[in-house]
Amino acid sequence: MNPQVILVTGANKGIGYGIVRSLLTSAPSHSIIYLTSRDVSRGQRAVTELSAIGGRSSNLVYHQLDITDEQSIDTLVNKIRNAHGRLDVLVNNASIAGTDNELMVDVNYYGTLMVCKKFLPILDKEHGRIVTIGSAIAHLAAFENEEIRNQLGNPELTIEELSALMDKYKADCKAGKASENGWPMAYAVTKAGETALSGILARKYPSLLINVCCPGWVNTEMGASMGGKPPKTIDEGAKIPVRLAINDLGGISGGFWENPSVMDTGVGSISVW
Ligand SMILES: NC(=O)c1ccc[n+]([C@@H]2O[C@H](COP(=O)([O-])OP(=O)(O)OC[C@H]3O[C@@H](n4cnc5c(N)ncnc54)[C@H](OP(=O)(O)O)[C@@H]3O)[C@@H](O)[C@H]2O)c1
Repeated sequence: MNPQVILVTGANKGIGYGIVRSLLTSAPSHSIIYLTSRDVSRGQRAVTELSAIGGRSSNLVYHQLDITDEQSIDTLVNKIRNAHGRLDVLVNNASIAGTDNELMVDVNYYGTLMVCKKFLPILDKEHGRIVTIGSAIAHLAAFENEEIRNQLGNPELTIEELSALMDKYKADCKAGKASENGWPMAYAVTKAGETALSGILARKYPSLLINVCCPGWVNTEMGASMGGKPPKTIDEGAKIPVRLAINDLGGISGGFWENPSVMDTGVGSISVW
């Protein structure tokens, strides 16, 4: 396999950090791995830690990237275009949970959408991949409102229609009508938005491999905030995303990948979203 240019968002800690650490040993040698973070000092600290491990840490590059900041994204797109001419793999890992509902839509859904739109023009046209870290919490079955469920699962859904749905959720939150109108918890709405987005992009770009996965219940700041002790380590949580980033997928695109349970430490398989 040829060296790859791989970018991971929100990789200063948690699963994103685990994905980068795993890629340093499992990606083809001479691959360039961009560890990115919104906060420069937190990201540089992560790079220093990973460099101390040795091995292939010379393949590691740090760059600032806030997925909600257009200028920050543009700067990195230009840097990667100039340095390598292309990006091979984009890993959408950055997300937030447990905060203001509308902010979660803006970061998790709209931030991921903007990153995809900006990096797609430099994604390798034949071998490019996008991996998005979704969540089993956002299975379509979590949407008790049949109309919303059908819209999200509509195989002809467009980005414009999906964004309108996310805006409808924000408006319902503002009006205090989110649960009355059958929306699940905000985090699930935003992760469903990311999953539906992945499916739309897979249909729109059939030569690319565009997949979404649930990493399981992983012991990170976010995982622990769900209550109780998450059973999986960040290395275990990185397994499915790393597989989707670099392994042979038999050409599968547009899939939702997970293990049979969020405790399971397997490498995942295609599942029903
Ligand atoms: N942990 C689980 O059990 C679990 C389960 C299912 C899915 N997931 C998904 O897995 C992914 C990683 O989660 P995690 O558990 O590792 O969470 P985490 O430990 O809270 O890490 C989240 C990462 O996202 C970054 N981030 C947040 N907003 C950002 C922005 N605007 N721009 C760039 N980076 C931003 C954070 O940066 P800061 O350090 O600066 O805040 C941090 O690096 C998320 O997509 C999450 O939804 C996690």
